Amino acid sequence: MCGIVGYIGKKQAAPIILDGLARLEYRGYDSAGMAIFDGERINIKKSVGRLKILENLTHDGKMMPGLLGIGHTRWATHGAPNNENSHPHFNEDETIAVVHNGIIENYLALRKKMTDKGYHFRSETDTEVLAHLLDYYYKGNPLEAITKVLHRVSGSYALGIMFADHPDEIFAVRKDSPLIVGQNEDGCFIASDVPAILKYTRTVTYVENQEIVRLREDHMHFYTVDEEEIAKTPVTIDWDANAAEKGGYEHFMLKEMYEQPKTVSDTISPRLKGNEIVIEELNMSDDEIRAIKKIHIVACGSAYHTGVTAKYVMEGLARIPVEVDVASEFRYRNPILEEGALVIVISQSGETADSLAALRESKARGFKVLGIVNVVGSSIAREADNVMYTWAGPEIAVATTKAYSAQLVALYLLAIKFAQVKETIDEIEFDGMLEDLKRLPDQIELLLNNKQRIQRFANRYIGAKDVFFIGRGIDYAISLEGSLKLKEISYIHSEAYAAGELKHGTISLIEEGTLVAAVSTQPALYQKTISNMVEVKARGAFVLAVTCEGNKEIEKAADYVIYIPETNAYFANSLAIIPLQLFGYYVAVGKGCDVDKPRNLAKSVTVE
Ligand code: M6R
Repeated sequence: MCGIVGYIGKKQAAPIILDGLARLEYRGYDSAGMAIFDGERINIKKSVGRLKILENLTHDGKMMPGLLGIGHTRWATHGAPNNENSHPHFNEDETIAVVHNGIIENYLALRKKMTDKGYHFRSETDTEVLAHLLDYYYKGNPLEAITKVLHRVSGSYALGIMFADHPDEIFAVRKDSPLIVGQNEDGCFIASDVPAILKYTRTVTYVENQEIVRLREDHMHFYTVDEEEIAKTPVTIDWDANAAEKGGYEHFMLKEMYEQPKTVSDTISPRLKGNEIVIEELNMSDDEIRAIKKIHIVACGSAYHTGVTAKYVMEGLARIPVEVDVASEFRYRNPILEEGALVIVISQSGETADSLAALRESKARGFKVLGIVNVVGSSIAREADNVMYTWAGPEIAVATTKAYSAQLVALYLLAIKFAQVKETIDEIEFDGMLEDLKRLPDQIELLLNNKQRIQRFANRYIGAKDVFFIGRGIDYAISLEGSLKLKEISYIHSEAYAAGELKHGTISLIEEGTLVAAVSTQPALYQKTISNMVEVKARGAFVLAVTCEGNKEIEKAADYVIYIPETNAYFANSLAIIPLQLFGYYVAVGKGCDVDKPRNLAKSVTVE
């Protein structure tokens, strides 16, 4: 979702801002713009579509000289993606420029108020009210104007602001939308996310809710909304900068799929100490684990799908009831949380607005929240009571793969740990599961190395209109993710169904040649799924089966079979998802889709 980059320092600002925005492209956007102070006035250039257009328009920033500026990639919420609605937004006399990520919820009332005061609006955005409000309250002191505005707006915002008559400073503000600031020997930076400025500095400070930062060439000052100065401690980012580069792969998604053996191993290994699972971050004694009466898992998208898998694994292994909710539903359904409940919020970005709201709702009711998060220092990581990190490193492709796989194994570890403490599994089962977990990275690698067969198969379905994914139990959870991978990047309509549910309506959509991907990794359910495959085949479907080695019987009902190596049935998701990710990827590549940045999607969904 919208990306913000700002710079003030000794270097030309525009190329740095363009470079930073390019590194935020993965967040999703439909227009871009930047404001640069040229020594006399603030100049703004905007363009609709890819950042490349803005780069060409400004000759890679050379046409916009100046040592300070703010830039933005916009993911449209209020008003179509056009030049007027693109950021930055000016006040009327073009002396104040603002970029914004988030939603100003009371913008209609504010817009009316400012219109009544004689202000004219050029765009349909909620952001423009901020520019006019700043103008209204500005009497020469930017900090004072900003705090007055903040007291009057509600909603979420990360802002970059500049004032033409204060050419030695830019401002950053945040509430419920991510924002960081950084510094090196040449200047100071604002960014929505670390990759934007990692090339320039590893010293960053996370801006907290309702904090204001005044950035100058050689220092930064932090303030509360009451203009009181506060001290902040920067952190050093220790990622490998190459982790956010394509490294020779055609797409980030392909690279990230290939990183899965490592991310799975990196997430498991630090928590295996000898023959024990040690999850220190859980901060729970064995007695506290035994006291868990129910687990509520809350997440969105693919993270929700890992939660659906976890329900089967946790209930099966640890015999703890699990309720899984889509975060946007959880927060408004007045969920029943009772004593002994543990809330787990799963999120790659750690910034998903609905997941964050669900976390806050749970905490407000007095329940402890465990975050399973990938981005270190993100909002969910900071606000959760305890955080179990998935060590997947930066994930750039909008379609998640490696973070999904890391979430899965983090959840397996939790389930096995709970089961061991509750003695719902015996020692032999426990040891066997650890061995199976340790084998997963190599098995994933094996599946990735056999990609040609899936690639060939995918090429046959580039023209498909509808694809159905079916499975039972954990295989249903795998189907949900397989279907999402395909539709989000290839734009082919696809749905996932519990295999037994198909004949309650959806089977009427099956026509001659419709592709049905049947996932069948649970030996106890093999026969049941075969029956469902036969039903769709009888109606003309072409059946692709994903099953475990040895299940030869499936060949009688399937037209094409992909085998995954043998593992514990509870962990089959980690293997079966690999061919489905590859299938979605190769269909999208074959169709010529923008795989890493699918239309309309954002990597980090920071608005409701
Ligand atoms: O950052 P999060 O894990 O909270 O994001 C949740 C979803 O937005 C995300 O999984 C989304 O569904 C992806 N596009 C799936 O590939």
